[in-house]
Amino acid sequence: MTISQFQDQFGIIGKSKEIKDLVDIIMQVAKSDISVLIYGESGTGKEVFARAIHGYSNRANKPLVSVNCGAIPEGILESELFGHKKGSFTGAMENRRGYFEIADEGTLFLDEIGEMPLTTQVKLLRVIETKEFMRIGAETVTNVDVRIIAATNKDLQNEVDSKRFREDLFFRLKAVTFNIPPLRKRKGDIEELALFFLKSYSEGNHITTPHITNEAMDILKNYPWPGNIRELKNAIETAIALNKNGTLDEFSFLPLLREIDKDISNQRNLPVFLNKTPEDADRELMYRALFEIKKDLIELKDLIYRRQDEINNIDEVLPLADVEKNAIVKALEKTHGNKRMAARLLNISERTFYRKMKGYEL
Ligand SMILES: Nc1ncnc2c1ncn2[C@@H]1O[C@H](COP(=O)(O)OP(=O)(O)O)[C@@H](O)[C@H]1O
Ligand SMILES: [Mg+2]
Repeated sequence: MTISQFQDQFGIIGKSKEIKDLVDIIMQVAKSDISVLIYGESGTGKEVFARAIHGYSNRANKPLVSVNCGAIPEGILESELFGHKKGSFTGAMENRRGYFEIADEGTLFLDEIGEMPLTTQVKLLRVIETKEFMRIGAETVTNVDVRIIAATNKDLQNEVDSKRFREDLFFRLKAVTFNIPPLRKRKGDIEELALFFLKSYSEGNHITTPHITNEAMDILKNYPWPGNIRELKNAIETAIALNKNGTLDEFSFLPLLREIDKDISNQRNLPVFLNKTPEDADRELMYRALFEIKKDLIELKDLIYRRQDEINNIDEVLPLADVEKNAIVKALEKTHGNKRMAARLLNISERTFYRKMKGYEL
């Protein structure tokens, strides 16, 4: 199977070198039973990659069990993982199989492994090493054959150094380690992802796939996406759900513009490259281009929000009609007379806008 075929089969979008390299490694290690540790910020696709590893392994027709170690209360995590015998503690009404048994001959995906309590870590290491464990309250051992894939957005070495994570378990888990870079470090993938989510959401909801303008796409490409692919997917879905005319334009992504502004105030100083290589020079050009685009976006944003601030800052009480007329005049000024945009700024229909203009003899 080629890298692209693998990506198609497991729904992994992205043509960046980062993604291609990751897929390459995954295809190599999937077939063995070696433990895999996946690093990546929230929303970068850790679970997607875990599924792909399982799906391409010889265990593919056995279960993949996903456990979010951060979401399960500490007190019940062990019984969830290892199961329990009826009557072993208050509330243990029945014998219960744990995730290890359910995942037998398959894969156990331990998400947010950095959140696992130290006592549970000891037991986990023992199961990984001996391939056997006891259900809570049981006297006999149960044998399991489970491949472990763990994921975290924490720096586990750092957790080990501060004694929150056991070093022996860490060494065991990190046989193969890879890091999924955040979306802001592989901006080249944004457009393809955006178009994919645009299409899949509209098809899933039986609506015509909206057109997306270049201006809107520029916003998506320049936004830093702290929530990564999950956030991009949500932003597209919200924009489609609120869309009325079949075109996603810059106004569809206004909430993102506000964030870009915050972001840029932290990044005013462009990186300076000494001893430039051609690659550095390219990068610098790209930075400058991005910087220019961001500046344009911020001006656009200001245009829209300054109006709001002015309204909020007025102490004086004016006749409502004056305020309305004033708002219309300002909207026209700021949009250089573009009535469609002015109406959007004022959040009224174009028809209402024309009617009001006429009413105020503008
Ligand atoms: N490379 C990718 N191609 C397509 N969709 C992706 C990709 N990576 C992540 N996604 C989607 O983004 C969302 C978050 O992915 P997920 O694997 O749950 O992230 P994480 O586990 O790192 O928080 C999911 O809806 C997933 O399908
Ligand atoms: Mg996840």
